[in-house]
Amino acid sequence: MSEATKSKACLAIIVLLLAVIAAGAYKFIIAGSVEKAEDGRLAVVLAPGERALILKEMRGFVSGIQQITDALARDDMKGVAAAARQLGRGAAKDVPAALIGKLPLEFKTLGFSVHGQFDQIADDAEKTRMARVTLGQLADVLQKCVACHSAYQFRAAP
Ligand code: HEC
Repeated sequence: MSEATKSKACLAIIVLLLAVIAAGAYKFIIAGSVEKAEDGRLAVVLAPGERALILKEMRGFVSGIQQITDALARDDMKGVAAAARQLGRGAAKDVPAALIGKLPLEFKTLGFSVHGQFDQIADDAEKTRMARVTLGQLADVLQKCVACHSAYQFRAAP
C-alpha cells in the first residue's frame, strides 16, 4: 500500500469514528431512548429499576407540594422554604448518568428547570416571605408538570 493510500485509509477511519461518536452524542444528549406511545405521547424507554427511581422522584414532588401548601395555609414561610428546598437541584444530583442519557433533551431541560424553580421558591420564601408570591410560583411550576405529563410517558424495557 502506498503512503497516499495509507493516509487516505487513516482519514476514512477517523471520519468513521467521528461519525460514530457524533451519533452516540446525539443519542445520549438530544434524542434519548424514546418510542411513540399508543396515546400519542412519547414513551421514554427505561430499565425497570430506572423507571421505579424516577417515579419515586415524581411521588416526592406531590408529597413536597402537599407540604408546601400545608405550610402556606399556616403562613409558615420557613416550612415552605424547607419543603421546596427538598425538591430543588440537590434532589436531582443522585440520578445516574445512564438514566439521564435516556431522557430526551426537552425532557431534561423541563425536569432541571422544575428543580431550579423549587430552589427559587425556597429562596424567595426565605427572603420575601410572601405567601402570594409562592402561590404564583407554584402555579408556574405545576404548569411544567402538566406540560411534561401531556408529552411523555415511561415504559419499562422488556
Ligand atoms: C420532564 C417531565 C416531567 C416533569 C417536569 C414532571 N413529571 Fe411527573 N411524570 C413524568 C412522566 C413521564 C411520568 C410517567 C407517566 C406515565 O407513564 O404515564 C410521570 C409520573 C408522575 C407521577 C406518577 C408516579 C407513579 O408512581 O406512578 C406523579 C405523581 C407525578 N409524575 C408528579 C409530578 C409533579 C407533581 C410534577 C411537577 C412538580 C411532575 N410530576 C413533573 C414526567 C414529568
